[in-house]
Amino acid sequence: DRVLRIGLLGCGTVGGGVVTLLSGEVDDITARTGARLEVVRIAVRDLDKASARGLPVSRDVFTTDPSAVVEDPDVDVVVEVMGGLDPAGGLIRRALELGKPVVTANKELVADAGPELYEAARAAGVDFAYEAAVAGAIPIIRPLKESLAGDRVTRVVGILNGTTNYILTKMSEEGADYAEVLADAQRLGYAEADPTADVGGHDAAAKCAILASLAFDTVVHASDVFREGIAAITATDLRVADRLGYVVKLVGIASEVDDRVGARVHPVFLPKEHPLASVRDAFNAVYVEAEAAGQLMFYGRGAGAMPTASAVVGDVIDVARNLLQTARGAAESVHRAKAIRPIEDLQTQYYVL
Ligand code: NAP
Ligand code: HSE
Repeated sequence: DRVLRIGLLGCGTVGGGVVTLLSGEVDDITARTGARLEVVRIAVRDLDKASARGLPVSRDVFTTDPSAVVEDPDVDVVVEVMGGLDPAGGLIRRALELGKPVVTANKELVADAGPELYEAARAAGVDFAYEAAVAGAIPIIRPLKESLAGDRVTRVVGILNGTTNYILTKMSEEGADYAEVLADAQRLGYAEADPTADVGGHDAAAKCAILASLAFDTVVHASDVFREGIAAITATDLRVADRLGYVVKLVGIASEVDDRVGARVHPVFLPKEHPLASVRDAFNAVYVEAEAAGQLMFYGRGAGAMPTASAVVGDVIDVARNLLQTARGAAESVHRAKAIRPIEDLQTQYYVL
């Protein structure tokens, strides 16, 4: 078996999910990739905290020196899930310089330096992938970059932050207290290390900047995005909205009008029948309007360990396949044969989902 060795920068909520997913689905992932993916080094700040997580990796893969992970000649692919601009940015630049593909979930960094990092990856002939940076498990980067490349996107509207959507849902449906429900979101692994990034709209602004850049083929930074968070929203606002037939949601909106791109994040009143109004808890959704395709809606879990790990591991498999120069068809040809259920069996199913 061919082995591709992964170096993980960070092993908190998302990193822990990545290790769990990679170690739990070894045979399927090996078959889909064409190589076994092995986590060989992991950088954290606190070794005791890392051990306490009880992840299925040996204690000696951990280090407190993230550069050692990047520089390790045994590491083929670098996965950055530590967050923040520094040292994450420098570590990614160095990994690309060394010709190692990089996968990241770091929306703050991608919104700040995405085009530069993408260019560095292109120059090095390797991948720089960041599907997990926007809307957790929802595939939205690839659809905008690839599937809709032949169309003209006119507007993107998204519920892009799981923490604030969770808070607004619990406050409006259960009358929950803001501070208590924010603490729940932290405990459930939805919130950023500094949750003011969530409630202040910074996290959604970074994601909105990334989506605007992809949708309109330009460079939009988080600082170009008008931003207002949810801190000023009261239980009374939510009650009044409900009586008038609305729900309150924090949304990101990116559009191109008269050749000018604008992006904003703020709370809005959404009519209860709007497709985004039914997006509850930590779920996210991205509503895309394009000239030829019309309206599209992407929906799923926007935060949390395993949903985000799903997007990270998907990217890892993709970059690993490219690294192995395995054509998609060839990779699929190594899938294990599975039994197909006979038609008679399927006919007995009910026609109600
Ligand atoms: P987290 O739980 O705080 O984990 C961060 C990890 O990085 C921890 O293991 C931490 O070490 C390590 N770390 C941070 N700075 C370090 C440094 N200088 N040197 C070595 N290790 C360092 O954060 P998270 O929720 O997993 O988020 C990670 C990234 O994914 C962020 O960019 C976030 O925006 C993004 N993201 C998160 C979610 C989510 O639902 N949580 C979803 C999508 C994207 P210690 O454990 O020792 O502190
Ligand atoms: N803190 C982020 C959120 C994590 O709540 O949406 C997912 O990016």
